[in-house]
Amino acid sequence: MTIGILKEEGAEKRVALLPESVLFLTKIMISVLVEEHAGENAFAKDADYEAAGAKIVGKSDLFRQADLIIKINPPTDHEITLFREKTIFIAVLNPFFNAAIVHQLASRNITSFSLDVLPRTSRAQSMDILSSMATVAGYKAVLMAASTLPKFFPMFMTAAGTIAPAKLLILGAGVAGLQAIATARKLGAVVEVFDVRAAVKEEVMGLGAKFVEVEGAIDDKSAGGYAVEQTDDFRKKQALAVHDHAIKSDVVICTAQIPGKRAPILLKKETVESMKPGSVIIDLAASTGGNCELTKDNTTYVHQGITIIGNSFFPIDMPTDASKMFGKNVINFLKLMINQKGEFNLNWEDDIVKGTCVTHDKQIVHERVKAVINS
Ligand code: NAI
Repeated sequence: MTIGILKEEGAEKRVALLPESVLFLTKIMISVLVEEHAGENAFAKDADYEAAGAKIVGKSDLFRQADLIIKINPPTDHEITLFREKTIFIAVLNPFFNAAIVHQLASRNITSFSLDVLPRTSRAQSMDILSSMATVAGYKAVLMAASTLPKFFPMFMTAAGTIAPAKLLILGAGVAGLQAIATARKLGAVVEVFDVRAAVKEEVMGLGAKFVEVEGAIDDKSAGGYAVEQTDDFRKKQALAVHDHAIKSDVVICTAQIPGKRAPILLKKETVESMKPGSVIIDLAASTGGNCELTKDNTTYVHQGITIIGNSFFPIDMPTDASKMFGKNVINFLKLMINQKGEFNLNWEDDIVKGTCVTHDKQIVHERVKAVINS
């Protein structure tokens, strides 16, 4: 078996596997090809990959020789033309929003796995790249808020008087939200949190934040740890509650999402316009529309004195650890397909293998992806 690791394109600085992860594969006699300069933006040199037992090659050679190809981002149009039939491809395809790419992978007979549709079970936790990247994003969002806010985060008692701590409001306490809470608390801010899943209340409080409850949320335990869409009545009640807390906050960090759907709007234009001038909104959900009505994806701008940051690429700004986490997740995923002797076997009975596969045998085989992109 030959595994190929592609170089990412554009502004992306991460790489799917760092040399330390490559070493795991070469030790079990898998040959690894790495596209030249694949790791350089994550501070991994070609020589480091060679020292881990990999061979550095050009893109075309990699596509010609590799049986299984790994990348973080979806394939480019050019890359799609280079695939050999029946190649296995592992990436983050964002398949609900990339219908054209999914159709092309199917028609070229590629067996593709999209790590962002991995089932959220305890067994799959060690492969969960969404959690890893959300951890980076939650942390980075708070650091960016702290450096943008014209105020301190912690309380200071100085000879010039006492300075009150910053107040943060965090919308959504999933992985990114919980990491944002932990980071903000370490910096000394006072933190309030909204979520629709009652299960997160204790975790929020355990991190030293206040959980704000709004009655009547639909909390579907069968949704696998994800939120579901709320009723109009609840949305109205929640918007009022969010308004009351946001106007007293210095920073709002938005992380609420419903997988496969547009992000719920939780912060209305009129709420933003009632916030204190100088306040900061960081919208992590920007790529799926944002939780704030005024968010523009990948844009930072000031609206009536409020800085609104819609950044969908926080992990890019921490390429070393983001790549390290991504690579560890990928290796754990590969362990479902490759045994200790380096032998490859796709076990379709495995719920994680099956639940992550998007295209196989010229078909779109992931039921949820099929339903969303054909709707
Ligand atoms: P998650 O699914 O673990 O957490 C989302 C949370 O939002 C859940 O706890 C859910 O219950 C809550 N939620 C959903 N609807 C809500 C509502 N109406 N009110 C309050 N809470 C609600 O997701 P995760 O992994 O924490 O990611 C959060 C967001 O960050 C996603 O939009 C994800 O795409 C984004 N993200 C952004 C990155 C960036 O660089 N900007 C990097 C990684 C993730």
